[in-house]
Amino acid sequence: MECAREKQLTRVLNPSSIAAFGPETPRDNTPQETVLKPRTMYGITKVAGELLGDYYFRKFGVDVRGLRYPGIISSETPPGGGTTDYAVAIYYEAIQKKRYECFVREDTVLPMMYMPDALKACVDLLEAPVEKLVHHSDFNVGSMSFSAGELASEIKKHIPELKVTYKPDFRQAIADSWPKSLDDNAARKEWGWKPSHNISSMTKDMIEKLSKKLL
Ligand SMILES: NC(=O)c1ccc[n+]([C@@H]2O[C@H](COP(=O)([O-])OP(=O)(O)OC[C@H]3O[C@@H](n4cnc5c(N)ncnc54)[C@H](O)[C@@H]3O)[C@@H](O)[C@H]2O)c1
Repeated sequence: MECAREKQLTRVLNPSSIAAFGPETPRDNTPQETVLKPRTMYGITKVAGELLGDYYFRKFGVDVRGLRYPGIISSETPPGGGTTDYAVAIYYEAIQKKRYECFVREDTVLPMMYMPDALKACVDLLEAPVEKLVHHSDFNVGSMSFSAGELASEIKKHIPELKVTYKPDFRQAIADSWPKSLDDNAARKEWGWKPSHNISSMTKDMIEKLSKKLL
């Protein structure tokens, strides 16, 4: 942001996350304006980024724009071990091994988004006329919410032999402190956010793309 100010850059994208929320945040349909008291270092840096983005916009006119992304599911980047990455890893293991040990409970619900929608959100926000924006660095963007068990069932429609077991680790507590779904009306109103994928269209596309790559 400081570089952007010094060099008078046109725009800065600041990717925030649902990790900006914490256990005191309402978990269902989490509002745009709400309690931001995360307990992870990742979440704390995300809140700091959001606040700095808005500060740089108001104080210096740097056009910083940001989204609170949910868990991103992609066929291009392998899962990295983040709290939402069970929803990516399960596709790889389902295709390659027909079994998956999930590190959160079966009933764990988190908001997720398919990568094509994550890219669309980024481009649509960056292209929005600045005068339409009331918010800047902290837009909630929702897409779909499902439990780990629901995702397993959806994948089983394509790979019926899949066996999923559940062995929660330290990430369960983090998942339990994050929203289940997001109120993204500000994004819809201010820059026309509208996701195009749901759990079934995403699963069909993920399995097609990953099968070509992995098998
Ligand atoms: N993946 C998700 O589910 C998710 C969800 C919410 C928010 N986000 C946010 O979106 C952004 C991208 O996430 P991702 O999953 O693609 O991460 P990633 O780890 O795949 O990519 C991060 C990129 O940043 C680069 N990088 C790291 N430190 C750097 C530095 N000091 N200088 C320059 N480049 C550096 C890395 O080389 C890498 O290319 C992150 O800010 C992440 O917090 C991701």
